[in-house]
Amino acid sequence: MELVEVSPTQLPMSLLLEADPCEEKIQGYLDRCWGFAAKQQDAYLGACLVLPGQNGTAEILNLAVQPGFQGKGIGTSLLRWTLKQLSAKGTSRVALGTGSFGPQLTFYQRLGFRVTEVQRDYFLTHYPEPLFEQGIQHRDRLWLSLDLAE
Ligand SMILES: CC(C)(COP(=O)(O)OP(=O)(O)OC[C@H]1O[C@@H](n2cnc3c(N)ncnc32)[C@H](O)[C@@H]1OP(=O)(O)O)[C@@H](O)C(=O)NCCC(=O)NCCS
Repeated sequence: MELVEVSPTQLPMSLLLEADPCEEKIQGYLDRCWGFAAKQQDAYLGACLVLPGQNGTAEILNLAVQPGFQGKGIGTSLLRWTLKQLSAKGTSRVALGTGSFGPQLTFYQRLGFRVTEVQRDYFLTHYPEPLFEQGIQHRDRLWLSLDLAE
């Protein structure tokens, strides 16, 4: 497996939909992002889209691993490597929004991300369809961030 920086438009939409169920939203941010990927031969096993911001900030908008390859360390490797690339590009603080429960939260916290804000009812007001996981509806979004200099 190799970790590479790619043009976001090269990434398969089916993979990006694993992390963000709304294709319209993805199309809205795709062109403005940096793309990072875990590749095996010609297959994309994982993808990470990052939106550069102002004053050394950046936002992870999409991080996904192909369903058959999840839980094998690919997401951790891809995110760790992406954070190094972001640091090399001059990013000092990385933020992202995620659900208020579930394995994704554990995943990000294990890599050092901390909760900085709770956006109540975010998933009710920003997505056309209700989002369910483990039989629970996602309502509130947690805003997490990581200082790369730490
Ligand atoms: C979240 C995701 C990127 C993590 O990548 P991964 O390669 O599966 O994760 P790793 O193998 O590196 O790390 C495993 C840890 O991630 C977490 N995790 C999150 N989603 C998981 C999943 N679907 N399967 C297994 N572990 C998952 C668990 O905490 C797990 O820890 P554990 O082994 O102690 O239970 C990936 O599972 C995925 O694409 N999920 C669907 C899309 C998504 O939710 N993206 C994040 C949007 S906020």
